[in-house]
Amino acid sequence: MTTRPRKPAPGTPAPGKLALPELAEMKRRGDPIVMITAYDAPSGHLADAAGVDVILVGDSAAMVVLGHDSTVPATMDEMIVLTRAVNRGARRPLVVADMPFGSFQVSDVQALENAIRFVKESGADAVKLEGAGPALARVRAVTGAGIPVMGHIGLTPQTATMLGGFKAQGRTAAKAARLYEDALALQDAGCFSIVLEAVPSPVAAAITEALDIPTIGIGAGAACDGQVLVWHDLLGLYEGHAPRFVKQYADLAPAITEAVERYAADVRGGSFPEEQHTYSIPDEELALFEEAVAASLKR
Ligand code: KIV
Repeated sequence: MTTRPRKPAPGTPAPGKLALPELAEMKRRGDPIVMITAYDAPSGHLADAAGVDVILVGDSAAMVVLGHDSTVPATMDEMIVLTRAVNRGARRPLVVADMPFGSFQVSDVQALENAIRFVKESGADAVKLEGAGPALARVRAVTGAGIPVMGHIGLTPQTATMLGGFKAQGRTAAKAARLYEDALALQDAGCFSIVLEAVPSPVAAAITEALDIPTIGIGAGAACDGQVLVWHDLLGLYEGHAPRFVKQYADLAPAITEAVERYAADVRGGSFPEEQHTYSIPDEELALFEEAVAASLKR
């Protein structure tokens, strides 16, 4: 009898998976943590093959995958489908699911129920939620149930309107001090890591220095313990406005358009498909088939 490898139970790290405490070890060793967003199985697989440490299934999916103007419309059901797909493609990286707007703001119970959904229904290793203040109680509720939480402060896109738009945060002494206090409070509440988005480098450096847990920067300078970029920004796949903190490592959109244009031209010009793209049928079977067609035409 052959035995199939058993899938680990939800909440159990899969073999080969980066252990969560390794991130804190990386901070202690000074090894930069590499995080990237991904939204489907192929991107999860490619990110894993490239050796990233953490994959964030960001609610940026609402913009870069689903075509919305902001992250706000992302729903739990959409995020669960995307996270499950990423998990099918990725093995070693930790997979962090982003809690979408409206999935945790109402109460601690709502936050915990939705974090549990991510773990049970999509196999997420951890969740991320935006903000401090009222979000601290949510972090305590979720980590209290044994689900690791990544914090996110600075520019928090779900509440960008309240912040005065998509702009850098912590640019006055008072606002920088507030971010510093928020980061310490999120650490105390149990976060295993914190994303710092669009925060001046010296402020991010002071926060990183003060925390035992790693900071992951996006537009927060080189002193953070790790960096994150959005998949579509890094690869040149997003046509919308790119913030100044984006570094584009490839320009895939024109390459994709050009490939699809060549395909369309081949189809229209009759040069695709060719012989090697089609299937044969034995001559005697074809003859029988043609007889059957002829007979059916006579009826
Ligand atoms: O949704 C997202 O992609 C994010 C990153 C930008 C940190 O929150």
